[in-house]
Amino acid sequence: MIGRYYMLRALKVLKVTAEIFTPYLPMYKPLQEMETPHTQVARRKRISVQEGKHYFVVGKTGMGKTKLIKEMIGKKVSVQPNLNIYHLDTKKRGDFTSADGIMFQTEKAPAAFKTMGNRMVWQPFDDNKNEYSKFFLDILNTGLPSVVNVDEAINMTFGGIDNIPRGLKILLAQGRLPGIHVFGGTQEVARSPRQMHSQAYHVISFNVINDYDERMMLKMLRLNERGMKKLGLKQYEFWHIRPDVDDKAQLYHSWEELVNKII
Ligand SMILES: Nc1ncnc2c1ncn2[C@@H]1O[C@H](COP(=O)(O)OP(=O)(O)OP(=O)(O)O)[C@@H](O)[C@H]1O
Ligand SMILES: [Mg+2]
Repeated sequence: MIGRYYMLRALKVLKVTAEIFTPYLPMYKPLQEMETPHTQVARRKRISVQEGKHYFVVGKTGMGKTKLIKEMIGKKVSVQPNLNIYHLDTKKRGDFTSADGIMFQTEKAPAAFKTMGNRMVWQPFDDNKNEYSKFFLDILNTGLPSVVNVDEAINMTFGGIDNIPRGLKILLAQGRLPGIHVFGGTQEVARSPRQMHSQAYHVISFNVINDYDERMMLKMLRLNERGMKKLGLKQYEFWHIRPDVDDKAQLYHSWEELVNKII
């Protein structure tokens, strides 16, 4: 009888002790409160990853597209240093060098980076739609926040503005959440991939090559609605619009003005 009494007392003391100390034992903490190396990385990522936004930059040769794009990317990296940067340089005319990233002069698409904060320039030997597709899909599947800069977007079309590498279509459609920003530059809007205009959050236009492109850009910039018949820009000047947000385009006189405002 006495033995049973002490056993019950001992069990009660054990129960109370367990109730008091359980919250302080790491293995009993709720899963979401536990810090592991993985949750630390995820938490840091949540803080520094910006939603992926795409940019479409148009203008005839020498207007300053590459310069503007490089300055925008430079500012983005200063804000978010862990971004991976991929320049796809199909023109290979010296705009991109080893100062812009590790150079790959290959036929096959280089593998996407598995760690953060890297930069590469891919100068493909020739225009191979499958290799382009693999390149973009690999970047998307790796899932790390990145910038993908397609310096001449018309080289992504294969006989029609809707015939582009499948990987590029998917990257443009799905790159937002992993924080992948696609920059597309082009001299000719009429021959560049349709998705690059339609999925662009930012559209930028310097002076363009021909009247057809001029009409397309006036429409995209919503300047035709205001009776404008010409883009009417000086060298290095450009219009900028966020088609989903703005009523009409704004005129900028230098890349500094825009970069400081939108990035
Ligand atoms: N805002 C600017 N102020 C001064 N120089 C500039 C400016 N923008 C561009 N440049 C210079 O003008 C030249 C042409 O610029 P950039 O290469 O950016 O043109 P682009 O539009 O990309 O031409 P392309 O279509 O031939 O590639 C470069 O030497 C660049 O350094
Ligand atoms: Mg250029």
